[in-house]
Amino acid sequence: MIEAHFCTALRIVITDWKSQLTVDEMAQQLSDPVTFGRALLPALDQELAKLGCTRSHIVGLAWQTPCLHLRSVFDPQGIPDTPLDFRPVPDSEGTLIARATAIVCLAALDADTVSYGSENGGDLFVNLVVIPGEGRVSEKSQSKMNGHTDAVTFPMRGYRDPEDPRIAPSPDFVCLAALRNPNAVPTTVMQLEAILSQLDAQHIHELQKPQYILQSQLTFRDGMEEILGQELLVDDAQLLFQMQNGFWIRYSHSSTKAADAGESPAKQAMLALTEACLNCAIPVALAPGDIAIVNNRIALHGRTKVGEEFGGQSRWMLRTYGLDTSDLDEFQRHPDSTFMLFP
Ligand SMILES: [Fe+2]
Repeated sequence: MIEAHFCTALRIVITDWKSQLTVDEMAQQLSDPVTFGRALLPALDQELAKLGCTRSHIVGLAWQTPCLHLRSVFDPQGIPDTPLDFRPVPDSEGTLIARATAIVCLAALDADTVSYGSENGGDLFVNLVVIPGEGRVSEKSQSKMNGHTDAVTFPMRGYRDPEDPRIAPSPDFVCLAALRNPNAVPTTVMQLEAILSQLDAQHIHELQKPQYILQSQLTFRDGMEEILGQELLVDDAQLLFQMQNGFWIRYSHSSTKAADAGESPAKQAMLALTEACLNCAIPVALAPGDIAIVNNRIALHGRTKVGEEFGGQSRWMLRTYGLDTSDLDEFQRHPDSTFMLFP
């Protein structure tokens, strides 16, 4: 019920907002997303109050469930053909409304909408689409993705990279706005609590030790080279963190390995984690107009195979990130941007 109320309130607030604006004016306002999102919160609070709901109910839910699935929260009308690359997101009424809804939605969860300069040129929103052509990026855009958290080499919020304090934390939330999904290809989410219930105490203990190596995910590699001079690799990484209200995780099946070669307890714990992920995957099929807010601390996410169809009316999601930036230092941001974090 809380999710439904949140959808209703978001729809009303965004419909009201856009009714007074041209496409250019909408785009202009979204260029400073944090200010924009916060400015619409009083109106959102009012709408929620009419429904007997508050933002703290929604924040509470977002930190208990792996994924908020907001159904029909925006109108995906007025969009061009599906793009053929991560960027740019074309400015049209439909994509602007999707982006505005995502930004206000994240602001309601006390999260700023952010990007990282090292991924896709720091664009705030990227197209998740099938990219035609040869090579790993194209292949990856079509294939199934195993469970992972996004920006896996960046520190958890509240922690610092051991070698470079400028590295901003990974996002709290991964936000997907569905513009097209003709074959109802599901995004998959895995709740950490469910995963851990399948592991024994020894595995959980091993995953908390600093004994893993994390490699940057594919979309970050070129940007890292450009900004840091090298790909960010984290040695002595811990995957599981004991926090006040349970555990947080960072993990990527394809970018994590145990520091010790051979059949070490560290590696066995990682294999058990991977196995548990497969057992816990819940499919979330996003329909056009839906938004998913995946918690990047207490859940992993992936997706099933997309297929080869590209352009035209093929699958198209917009993706952005949400992060509570209240304890960020100024040097963890790019100085010329209101939303782009370092690196
Ligand atoms: Fe991801």
